[in-house]
Amino acid sequence: MDDLEQQLETLHHEAQTAIQGCVSLADLDQVKGRFLGRKGGLSAAMEQLKNVPREDKPRIGKLVNKVKQSLTGAIADRREALESAAGSGGPAIDTTLPGRRHRLGHRHPLTQIFERTVAIFRRMGFAVADGPEVEDEWYCFDALNTPADHPARDIQDTLYVDLPPHAEHGRYLLRTHTSPVQIRVMQQQQPPIRIVAPGRVFRRDTPDATHSPTFHQIEGLYVDKNVTVADLKGTVEFFFRELLDPDVRVRFRPHFFPYTEPSFEIDLSTAHFRARGKEWIELAGCGMVDPNVFKAVGYPDDAYTGWAFGFGIDRLAMIMYGITDIRLFTENDVKFLEQFS
Ligand code: DAH
Repeated sequence: MDDLEQQLETLHHEAQTAIQGCVSLADLDQVKGRFLGRKGGLSAAMEQLKNVPREDKPRIGKLVNKVKQSLTGAIADRREALESAAGSGGPAIDTTLPGRRHRLGHRHPLTQIFERTVAIFRRMGFAVADGPEVEDEWYCFDALNTPADHPARDIQDTLYVDLPPHAEHGRYLLRTHTSPVQIRVMQQQQPPIRIVAPGRVFRRDTPDATHSPTFHQIEGLYVDKNVTVADLKGTVEFFFRELLDPDVRVRFRPHFFPYTEPSFEIDLSTAHFRARGKEWIELAGCGMVDPNVFKAVGYPDDAYTGWAFGFGIDRLAMIMYGITDIRLFTENDVKFLEQFS
């Protein structure tokens, strides 16, 4: 065997031992330099190749390549072993990964309807009013001309709060409608009054696809001198045209509410609803404010007239969007809510 061949075999053996002995990546880099680097052992051997007799060159050349490949492979294996032993597959941050997008939220579908409603009424000079969700019997019923024997006060459909009752106003309860906001506003200010009051209301109901113990209403109140049913009808029609469809048909049907006289129910018909198989949708109650309500808030007799309305948002939203289960509004399932962005 040629000297050079012997030298290469020794180098191969030494390098293998050194590679196996490396305990860190820095060690390994150093060993790699020592044997495979530009001034390393293998380069030195290749230098000598030019002095080898012609007929031996192919054989020894092949050997050089074989040693180089073997060592390169051994270094790669050792590197992998050291890296996985260190518990890191490379740098901690993978800069090639796409960034994490911040998903923009949006408003709840019912809030969207509240906001659109409020925007339309603001354009007509209405302000937004608010009231507590825990009311007392006087605000919720008595002041609204609803006497103590009225079925609305029955334990069957009202959620009373376990608190000592108010000295004059009776028991506390979760408000069953937004109408008590009318009373609170009239106590606080004199006409002219133009307000809408969006809010959450509660009734004792067993939840199913069309009933929920909590739902949402918007109340409207307009009080001034010489307010008439014509104002009520014109305002309501304008509002629903703006909210739903310029071609919406609005129908007033005589009804009874204790706090309005006369009272009506408002039915709507739009091409969109008709396409869903509903000719008329009963959506709201309204009427001219009953004189007993003005009396309850201390307004002078016969000084003012006014109208009020209240309508449910959940049912409207269900028909607008073709939703068949009212519980979806309160379950907060992102897959449902995402569809209203
Ligand atoms: N408070 C009624 C309800 O919850 C709705 C309503 C009817 C409100 C007539 C009004 C009104 O302001 O005038 O069903």
